[in-house]
Amino acid sequence: MSLVSAAINERLCVLSSSATDAKALQWSQFFKCPLNPSYPEKYFFNFHVEPQGVYVRDQEKRILEIDFEKNHLDYERKGHRGKNELIAKALGVAKGYRNILDLSVGLGVDSVFLTQLGFAVTGVERSPVLYALLKEAFAKTTKSYLQFYQLYFADSLQFLKEHKGQLNIDSIYFDPMYPHKKKSALPKQEMVVFRDLVGHDDDAAEVLKEALTWPVQRVVVKRPMQAEELLPGVRHSYEGKVVRYDTYVVG
Ligand SMILES: C[S@@+](CC[C@H](N)C(=O)[O-])C[C@H]1O[C@@H](n2cnc3c(N)ncnc32)[C@H](O)[C@@H]1O
Repeated sequence: MSLVSAAINERLCVLSSSATDAKALQWSQFFKCPLNPSYPEKYFFNFHVEPQGVYVRDQEKRILEIDFEKNHLDYERKGHRGKNELIAKALGVAKGYRNILDLSVGLGVDSVFLTQLGFAVTGVERSPVLYALLKEAFAKTTKSYLQFYQLYFADSLQFLKEHKGQLNIDSIYFDPMYPHKKKSALPKQEMVVFRDLVGHDDDAAEVLKEALTWPVQRVVVKRPMQAEELLPGVRHSYEGKVVRYDTYVVG
């Protein structure tokens, strides 16, 4: 079954300033959505393909783009604490675990940070639009530590079932969407578009269950501080101010 659901391709069109743009055609075929339709305003999301890059704009003119060079989403963190970063500790950096499978790449913020910290990361994303933004961002970046990043367009549950025992992975990382709080902390415009595109990850516990059957050392789940455990059996929680990393020890 195609991962590109009717839900998204009926709400999306691709727009390009050049009618013969091969990249625009390629993405419209991937999304199975119209390219340069007569009335683009009828579509909730417009995926723009421009010479300088790609981005998504919604009907409210909110824009989401992924550009690892721009650092608008804090991709390149200055002054990080290296091996003492909570996420690195949770994934087992002290034990020499380096090969990470990220089951929820999203905007790529955590994945990119992990590569910056020296981890070798394989990432999976199931949202077609997020995948397209990520794919273009990886193609464009000049950052050397992102050169070997492996990105897959897949549902992680399926991916885990199909690739079990086939990849050299030490630790699995999972950061599913968590229902956000009321309007008080209004997210940046990017986050609004992101949430509209991705929706809820209601199957997160099922994904974690499958991840726990993999022959890896650890599975780490990122949670808001006040959230319940995604599944019982957390061995240790690495707690920050707003998030914590719940670690399940498998091997
Ligand atoms: C909270 S965001 C992750 C943010 C990410 N850690 C970052 O730093 O940008 C969750 C993302 O994981 C993706 N996701 C959730 N469950 C997934 C699954 N089963 N398979 C593939 N992607 C999944 C969602 O589509 C969404 O993009």
